[in-house]
Amino acid sequence: MSWANRLSPAVKAVPPSGIRRFFDIAAEMKGVISLGVGEPDFITPWHIRESCMHGLHKGYTSYTSNYGLLELREEIVRTIYNNYQVTYDPRTEALVTVGVSEALDLAIRALLSPGDEVLIPEPCYVSYKACVTLAGGQPVPVPTTMEDEFRVTVEQLEKLVTPRTKVLLIGYPNNPTGAIMPKQELTAIAQFAKKYDLIVISDEIYADLTYEGTHTCFASLPEMRDRTILLNGFSKAYAMTGWRIGYALSNPDFIAAMNKIHQYTMLCAQEPSISFLLLKKPA
Ligand SMILES: Cc1ncc(COP(=O)(O)O)c(C=O)c1O
Repeated sequence: MSWANRLSPAVKAVPPSGIRRFFDIAAEMKGVISLGVGEPDFITPWHIRESCMHGLHKGYTSYTSNYGLLELREEIVRTIYNNYQVTYDPRTEALVTVGVSEALDLAIRALLSPGDEVLIPEPCYVSYKACVTLAGGQPVPVPTTMEDEFRVTVEQLEKLVTPRTKVLLIGYPNNPTGAIMPKQELTAIAQFAKKYDLIVISDEIYADLTYEGTHTCFASLPEMRDRTILLNGFSKAYAMTGWRIGYALSNPDFIAAMNKIHQYTMLCAQEPSISFLLLKKPA
């Protein structure tokens, strides 16, 4: 009997990531520039690398709180407040994760029961559907078109929402299309979420790479803060893809539930990667 037959049906249902395979092939070829993965075209700025070295030198090499270093959570909520005027409690409403990737997986696993449906505008980041399937949920692709500049519309969502829909998973600015959603259109989406009592997972990892207009944080829209799990991280805006630091912000119930999974699986994000923050402390 093949060992593959013993795998979980959820794992069997998910195809391997084509883009990661392409990345691995390109990484081994000389003279090839890979445009396949979301990798900034410069390396992590020197002051971050230097302070990480300093942190390592000082011996910041241990586990942190499961929620992540409090200093980092404080900086994160301060930044979100400064940028979008949304307030979070760094002690109960912020979780530092191993990239947005882990935060996404935790959010989905914390929310879904088998068969729950998740509306996902497409084209979208490769992990969205896979994470939903792996969690026993049902991804429901919502097609977007070039004519609409790949922006999701309430009209499209209305066609696909059912009594089993629990979550709307959006990612703007979008990978791979680059689409951004004007505030007015996001507000309509927020009203839709409220109408059907949906939870919104908003992956805003490319927020700082908005080149036209200003980014609207979904959680900043009326009545959306507690209904939204806001995901962001350091990979793209700070050119820190390999450091694997992300975060989730939401109401205390969602964050505690995500932390429950995180504390038994990942434990915490890696402290040496973020020890640059500890430079503020006396040695
Ligand atoms: C839209 C989107 N979300 C999440 C991720 C994963 O980010 P991280 O490096 O923080 O895990 C990526 C990476 O390319 C992405 O494009």
